[in-house]
Order: sequence, then C-alpha cells, then structure tokens
Amino acid sequence: MKILVIGSGGREHAIVWKLSQSKKVDKIYCAPGNGGIKDMAELVDIKVDDTPGLLDFAKKNKIGLTVVGPETPLVKGIVDLFNKNGLKAFGPSAELAMLEGSKVFSKLVMKKFGLATADFKAFNNPKDAKKYLNEKRVPIVIKADGLAAGKGVIIPKTIREGEQAIDSIMTEKVFGDSGNQIIIEDHLEGEEASVLIFTDGKTIVFLESAQDHKRIFDNDKGPNTGGMGAYSPAPIVTKEILDSVMKDVFRPLIDGLRKQGKVYKGVLYAGLMISEAGPMVLEFNVRFGDPETQAILPRLKTDLLDIMLACVDGTLDEIDVKWDRSSCISVVCASKGYPDEYEKDKEISGLEEAKNMKDVIVFHAGTKRNNGKILTSGGRVLGVTALGADIKLAKANAYRAIEKIKFEGMQYRKDIGNRAIH
Ligand code: AMP
Ligand code: GLY
Repeated sequence: MKILVIGSGGREHAIVWKLSQSKKVDKIYCAPGNGGIKDMAELVDIKVDDTPGLLDFAKKNKIGLTVVGPETPLVKGIVDLFNKNGLKAFGPSAELAMLEGSKVFSKLVMKKFGLATADFKAFNNPKDAKKYLNEKRVPIVIKADGLAAGKGVIIPKTIREGEQAIDSIMTEKVFGDSGNQIIIEDHLEGEEASVLIFTDGKTIVFLESAQDHKRIFDNDKGPNTGGMGAYSPAPIVTKEILDSVMKDVFRPLIDGLRKQGKVYKGVLYAGLMISEAGPMVLEFNVRFGDPETQAILPRLKTDLLDIMLACVDGTLDEIDVKWDRSSCISVVCASKGYPDEYEKDKEISGLEEAKNMKDVIVFHAGTKRNNGKILTSGGRVLGVTALGADIKLAKANAYRAIEKIKFEGMQYRKDIGNRAIH
C-alpha cells in the first residue's frame, strides 16, 4: 500500500519511521517532510493546509492511506474531503477536530458528558470577561478559543495582567480570529501527563503514557515551547489513573459522541492534570503529540499501519496492540534563540555517528538537506531518542548520543526524564 503522511516535524518523522517497518507498506510520501524523513519517504512539496492539493496528489498516486500529523488540516476538514472522494485518511472529521480547534466547543462537550475538568466560563466580549476576572483570584487561566500554535493559554500573575491578556487576545487580536471568544477557567494544581488513545469510535486502546517538558530551560524554567523532550512511560500515570481516565473521560466521551451519530476515528490526546482529586482534562488534541510520539512509537510492537487502518475501518477490536516494556526518552535539540526568533542554516555534524549507536534513533524536525549536508531550518531541530531497560538507562543512552551531535548555537535540556527517576 502507498501511504501519504502530512506534516514536517519530529512527530511525522516518528510516524514515517514506524510505518516504514510495516511489510504492507510499499512506498511512503511525506508532504512536506524534512531532511531526515527524506531518507525513508519521497518528499512532496505541498503545504499541510493545501487540502485540495493534497487530495489531488493522493488521487493521482493511488494513496491507500493518508495519515494527518498536525491539527490544522484536520480542522480544515481534510478527512471529510478525502472520504467524500473515496480515499482513506487517519484522523477525525472537521466537526470532531473542533475538540482541539475550539476550546469553547471542547469545554462544552466535556461538560455535557460530565468529564472532570476545571470550572470555566466562555466570553465573546472583553467587558464581560474582565468583569468575571475581577470576581476571581489569581492564579487563573485565560485561553483563546481557537488554534494559536500552542501559545493561546495565559496564566496571569495579577488581575491587571489578566486584563491585559484579555485585551491582547480579544481587542488587539494577537491570535487573529482565534481570539473572538475566550475561556476563563480555574487554575488546577498537580502534575501534567499526556494520555493518548487509538479509537475507531467504539473500541478504545491506550497508547503508552508519556510526559512532555514544555519550558525551554532545565527545572521547568523560562518560556513555554512546543515541547523540549518527552519520556514514556510516565510513572505518574498508574493503572488506577488509567482506569479512571477510561471510565471518566474516554468512555463517556467516545460513547456519548457516537450516540449522537458522531464517530471519532483516529488518535485522541488528553492533556491531563493529575490533581489530588484525580485526573482532570486540561485539553484535547485530535492528533499525536509532539514530542510525545517520538518517545511512544519506538515502544510500539504492533504494525502501526494495521492499527491505523483498523481505526479507519471500525475494526480496532480485532487488533492486539502490544508494547515493548523498555523505556524511551526523546530530547529536543533546538536552535539558538528558540522559542523566540531563532537562527537557521547551521550545518549539523555527528548525525551518522549518533544514529549508529545502539538503541538510538534521531528524529528530525527542523532540518533540510542542501548539497549533501544537513542544515537546521527550524526552532526545534532534532529529537534525539533512545530506548533503555528503564528511564535512567534510556536517558543515559540519549545524552550519550547527543554528545556526538553538534551545530552552532544548539541548546537542549539536560534534565529530560529526571521527574521519573527517583
Ligand atoms: P492547554 O493548551 O489547554 O493544554 O494549555 C497549555 C498549558 O497551560 C497546559 O499544558 C498547562 O500547563 C497549562 N494549563 C492549561 N489549563 C490549566 C489549568 N486549568 N490549570 C493549570 N494549568 C493549566
Ligand atoms: N506536546 C504537546 C502537543 O503535542 O500539543
């Protein structure tokens, strides 16, 4: 079967890498891909949100399954468009992609199905939002309704700062139309973890748990980023937590939606706060996490193509999804300046040496090829990933591999995985 993977990050490299191990896969295309994906897929120069262009390519090339990495094409309705044209695509419909595409929609769905989540109110004008804010105390959480590239959540330290956030989102429109509405929600305390499922709308299968590291510097200091590293499994996600997440989050949600005729297919990601009262939902993402996927997929033993086709075809109950017992860590190497304005076009050395180390996989994110060289082309450049019998050994392997890799201005966290090592 011919596969098209849409996206260009470390997540998509991990998906392509895993799919390339399937005996049923004849060829993989990736649009637009990156310098590392090029080793295992043919890169196609079509943008991720050019849904008509992607459809045209998939039709011409008789693509058997299209796997959508990022959220934007899902929210734009790529799965509906492909299905209408008789093509299979892995991911939810546009309507259900709104679980990520609109925080207001998502919170209303959570409320409707009684999922544990922070109390909230939605606002469509700054005056009412500020009035409500002044009745509350900090810390409090302000969220732009729509997609904002991971930047739409503000946790102000003072009410004044909160008012400024409301102005910048709703009046100055720093996130464009994504700020037409906002959510103000109670601040939750606890430790965060990501729990993802595969589902065909009936059967629900957990992926192994993972934990992301959102801040740029060690010990969770500095500004938020797209994610500086991840490890799997996350010990905080115990069997009890998983049982509770199934019973109180995923079952009521997936069954509730299906009963309304809305069948969720694909991967669903719950960002959770493990609070003293149990797991609470912070957000849903309608896709694989980045960088969680780079730490999760190396542990998957089952053929990923079989799982994805079963999600699309409604036969997930027939698949026995198996995981390796080892641990995995993925450490992000980023460009100088990231997460603000960053440097580009720096030559990367040592990739071959790192790649050839035992239990090491180097996933590329912001890289490109130029005259036989690999150059940096994005903020997050690489996800240096390693397996090990436990988190400590996986960590040692990953950091040994990073020592081989160099590019000017390279920055990375030294403490990925520490939370899980006692
Ligand atoms: P979200 O995009 O909704 O996951 O929010 C991004 C980040 O903001 C989360 O990963 C948390 O670190 C933080 N956050 C969001 N909602 C809350 C909340 N209700 N309480 C505390 N932190 C939150
Ligand atoms: N790791 C966070 C995300 O994928 O949204």
